[in-house]
Amino acid sequence: MSLPDPALVVLVGASGSGKSTWAASRYRDAEVVSSDALRAVVGSGEHDLDASADAFALLEQVVAARLGRRLTTVVDTLGTDAGRRRTWRDAARAVGLPAVAVVLDTPASVCRSRNAARDRPVPARVLTSQLASVSATVDLLEAEGWQVVRVGPDDDPNESDVEPARASTPRATPSGLRGVVLQLSRFPADADLLTWLRVMAAAAEEAGLAGLALMDHLIQIPQVGRPWDPIPEPWVTLGALAACTTRLQLGTLVTPVTFRAPGITAKAAATLSALTGGRTFVGVGAGWWEREHAAYGVGFPSARERLDALELGIETMKALWAPGTKPYAGQRVSLPETTSYPRPVGEIPVIVGGGGDRTLRIAARLGDGCNVPSDEVGLAKVVRYLALVGQAGRDPASVHPTVLDLPLVGRDRDDVWARVERHRGRTAAATFAARHHAGTAAEHATRLSGLADLGVTTAFVAPVGLDGPDDVLALAPLATAFGRPGPGH
Ligand code: CTP
Ligand code: MG
Repeated sequence: MSLPDPALVVLVGASGSGKSTWAASRYRDAEVVSSDALRAVVGSGEHDLDASADAFALLEQVVAARLGRRLTTVVDTLGTDAGRRRTWRDAARAVGLPAVAVVLDTPASVCRSRNAARDRPVPARVLTSQLASVSATVDLLEAEGWQVVRVGPDDDPNESDVEPARASTPRATPSGLRGVVLQLSRFPADADLLTWLRVMAAAAEEAGLAGLALMDHLIQIPQVGRPWDPIPEPWVTLGALAACTTRLQLGTLVTPVTFRAPGITAKAAATLSALTGGRTFVGVGAGWWEREHAAYGVGFPSARERLDALELGIETMKALWAPGTKPYAGQRVSLPETTSYPRPVGEIPVIVGGGGDRTLRIAARLGDGCNVPSDEVGLAKVVRYLALVGQAGRDPASVHPTVLDLPLVGRDRDDVWARVERHRGRTAAATFAARHHAGTAAEHATRLSGLADLGVTTAFVAPVGLDGPDDVLALAPLATAFGRPGPGH
């Protein structure tokens, strides 16, 4: 059983069927709107039937306000009032949230015996009439447009319905890049950088991640931090990481072709490959941030010229990494010789970042992979990229469609939403949660496995609020999502 989230969830069941217990096991207190609890707020207690009208007036107000913000709302009443159900369903539809009816399929005898065991049982004839209206309601739900989910008496309310990540069959991809690669984009200003890198790298290895990626920027970008936040030069930093890792793939995501002559990047990457026994990838892109170019005295030509440079750059790097020293006369570049030692160990995959159509075509013709956002728009580009690879006469199983993913990862639902509140700034909570797929590590693992089924081999993951090694270790359940062996392998 997997429930959509965010969603309107309306419980349907008689007294003692286990509605409140089920809701409490899966949702945060604030997400559950209960007529009983509101009777206690406006009346003398949960059983104060004289307070029902006031309690339901409040309930309607809370449901409408939460749904208006697209926040998950679980309505804990008997669920048998058709008029109220219609109001709730329409409010959910108005904001595009799924409307789910959760029917507690608890046998009447169980409801009766649980009811009898309570401090304040409802009278037997009241329970009998509840059971009748519940079964009449159940027959109406589908026609009313609800997604109906049945919960049996034996379903353990504490058991998460998130399946462990399936290890989908790995495609035969050319390098160890398959899996989850942690992108480090924020660095400490007041801690020792090398010590911090060591600790983070050790945690990434322990968590079973596939690699570490560094951004290549001269000034910290506004999407991540403030201009005075430290952002170390990536090739130097990767050299340091080479000395404190044994399994992780190391590379940039992405190096703008505008920063260095491509032969110099080829040299740095080949050196890193030699230092690491072949654990190197190169992300490349056309560059986009004019400010850092101006500040460092680096030219920033037109988009068209930068994309030309991207093509030329990839061709140059591949020529220099190829065996031998012979002259190279390519489509865009000619080199009198290709003498480059040390040699890289094995292939260095070139991952082309950016989602423009020309960029995807460059990635398909010249690169070894693409990198796009993990949202719906990005995933459509993965499909397009794989088609372009086929059109270029290349084997789609030989390339790396990769995504950049910015997950918000929490220990449980309470922790997830506490983190949403901490990090959302002025963005609405539901919007922020959706953008970062806010959820537990198990939920992210399931989601990433779905991306693997689309052909994605690698997720570059930059978690929201990644502070220290514990946040890295929390990613361990994601490590197997792309068919990699788990932590410890
Ligand atoms: N219970 C149980 N096992 C379950 C679910 C519930 O033993 N799988 C017990 C609860 O501990 C509680 C009783 O059954 O003592 C009723 O469960 P509750 O969730 O309170 O039922 P509701 O449907 O919410 O009942 P009401 O409509 O009266 O609020
Ligand atoms: Mg209840």
